[in-house]
Amino acid sequence: MSLYRLDASIRSEGSVSRAIADVVEESWRQGGSDVEVACRHIGLEPLPSNAWALAVSAGGVQASARSSDQRTAVALAATLVDELLGAEALLFAVPLYNFGVSQHLKAWVDLVLTDPRMATGGARPLNGKPAVLVVVRGGAYGPGTPREGWDHASGWIRRILEDVWGLDLRVVETEFTLAGVNPALDQFIDLAAQMRRDAERLAADYGRHLFGV
Ligand SMILES: Cc1cc2nc3c(=O)[nH]c(=O)nc-3n(C[C@H](O)[C@H](O)[C@H](O)COP(=O)(O)O)c2cc1C
Repeated sequence: MSLYRLDASIRSEGSVSRAIADVVEESWRQGGSDVEVACRHIGLEPLPSNAWALAVSAGGVQASARSSDQRTAVALAATLVDELLGAEALLFAVPLYNFGVSQHLKAWVDLVLTDPRMATGGARPLNGKPAVLVVVRGGAYGPGTPREGWDHASGWIRRILEDVWGLDLRVVETEFTLAGVNPALDQFIDLAAQMRRDAERLAADYGRHLFGV
C-alpha cells in the first residue's frame, strides 16, 4: 500500500494540520503491513517560486529549444505528478492563511497543472483515487459567524481535488486552532477542544477510506 502525503503548514512544532493528518496516516497504516509513505512538505521546503512561469513558458517551446531553467521546471512538474500517480492513496494537510489558499499549495497545484498528463479537461489520471483533505483554521467561519464566507481557500481546494482531478475525497476540518493562543478567542477554548476531538475521530475513519473501506 502506498500513500502520498502533502503538508502545507509553515511550521512543524505545534502544527494542528500535521497532527490530524498523522491520525489519518496512522489509521491507514493499520490496514496493512507493507506500507510506503512518500511525503512532501511544501510549507517547510517550498517549491521555487519561478518554476510555474518557467513551466508554462516551456509549454510553447520545442523540448530541444528549452532553456536549462525551463527544462528544470518541466522536470520538477513531472516529478510532482509522478508522485501523485505513483501512490494508491493521497493525503493533503492544509491550513488557512490570510483568508485564502496557502501560497505554497497554490504554487504546487499550478505546477502540477502544467504537466500535460494533468491538463484541465484532459484524461484525469487521478480519477477515483481515494484521498483525504485535512483543513485547519485558526478562527471560525461557519454559518452565522461574523466571518462566514471569509474562507476563500477551502472551496478552491475542493474544486481542484474533486472536480478537476476527480479524487474520491473525504474532508476533515477543524477550527479555532488559535483558541488558547489568541486571548480574544479564550471563550472558545472548550469548543475548540471539542472540534479537535471530532476531527480526530473523523480522521481515524477517513484513514480507513484510504484503503478502500
Ligand atoms: C501568517 C498566518 C496567517 C493566518 N491567517 C489565518 C486566517 O486568515 N484565518 C484563520 O482562521 N487562521 C489563520 N491563521 C491561523 C492558522 O490557520 C492556524 O494557526 C492553523 O492551525 C495553522 O496550521 P498548523 O497548525 O497546521 O500550522 C494564520 C496563521 C498564520 C501563521
